[in-house]
Amino acid sequence: MTTTQRITPGRNVGPLTYDELRATGLRDRWYPVLPSRMVGDGEMRKVTRLGKDWLLFRTSRGTLSMLADRCPHRNAPLSAGQHLGDRVMCQYHGVEVDGTGTVRKVPGMPGCALEGKQAAISLEVVEAADTIFAFFPAIPATKAPEFVLPDRLADPQVAYFPNYAEWRTPWRFYLDNVLDPMHGTFLHRQSHSMFAGDTSARFRIRETERGFFFEKTDQVGKNFDWVEFVDHAALHYVDLQIPYGPEGGPGGPFGIVGMVTPITSAESAVFHWRTRRVGGWERDVWRFLYRAALEQKHWAVLEQDRDMLERMAPDADQGEHMYQHDLGVARIRRMYDTAARAQAERILQHAK
Ligand code: FES
Ligand SMILES: [Fe+2]
Repeated sequence: MTTTQRITPGRNVGPLTYDELRATGLRDRWYPVLPSRMVGDGEMRKVTRLGKDWLLFRTSRGTLSMLADRCPHRNAPLSAGQHLGDRVMCQYHGVEVDGTGTVRKVPGMPGCALEGKQAAISLEVVEAADTIFAFFPAIPATKAPEFVLPDRLADPQVAYFPNYAEWRTPWRFYLDNVLDPMHGTFLHRQSHSMFAGDTSARFRIRETERGFFFEKTDQVGKNFDWVEFVDHAALHYVDLQIPYGPEGGPGGPFGIVGMVTPITSAESAVFHWRTRRVGGWERDVWRFLYRAALEQKHWAVLEQDRDMLERMAPDADQGEHMYQHDLGVARIRRMYDTAARAQAERILQHAK
């Protein structure tokens, strides 16, 4: 019996297609990658983001970089190598690469042309709001636009708590879920903050210069009544508020900034910053109260979302019967679909 061997190109080969962009996320955007605290000085850590493997590498002096987890020599994972303080040494043949992706040493062949060459992919990174952000270009070596934090997080009067989780759900389902405020009234009915107000509503979309609001037409300030989707400076996020009664302690409404980063087509890294505008001694009261009483409750609410999304079939966004409450979901899907088509076309043109 004869066997034929089929040779298929590796997944890092060839221009990204529309389907791949939909599955693993749009490029030319800043994405949160990991909480800063998860890569200490002198540490390195492998992560998968947007369907590819990366190495987060922090020098012993604290400078952070993010490299494709592929050694420039023959693509062995750099993450299996050794941290040498200001560079990493590949375990396979000892090639040394620094944070810029430049080969510093080829010990097996000193003076080799690879030495001094910027041969590993290195992403632009920024650390802000206790989080590592990276810019993922559609076309290699595209310069990142300046990183701008969401207004709410940049406001010095705002105290925030970051929170990080990994969910076994496509990134698109995360966005569908947050663009659907009505689920708060049902899925989170048993929660501490989302039991108030009507169980039926009408919604509208209100366009803004940098995205849109999806909001109830006849209720505000009672429950999860609106959400804003923002696309600003190549960063996408959602912003929402949930009102708190006096038992919620001092400060203005409770805010959430949310972002999602695809890990693979089926898993997502989700980032939330729970915020409150509160200053002076009241800020200490709020921080104490949050840690002592509210944080657990928030995790419980988030777990309800995770549990529902993880139970949904991978094709759950096909063949639905949507109604008026799903306008926000339809709007965000259309937006990403159009953007993915345009981006795939641009990538293809560049590859020609
Ligand atoms: S593959 Fe890394 S040194 Fe050869
Ligand atoms: Fe929710």
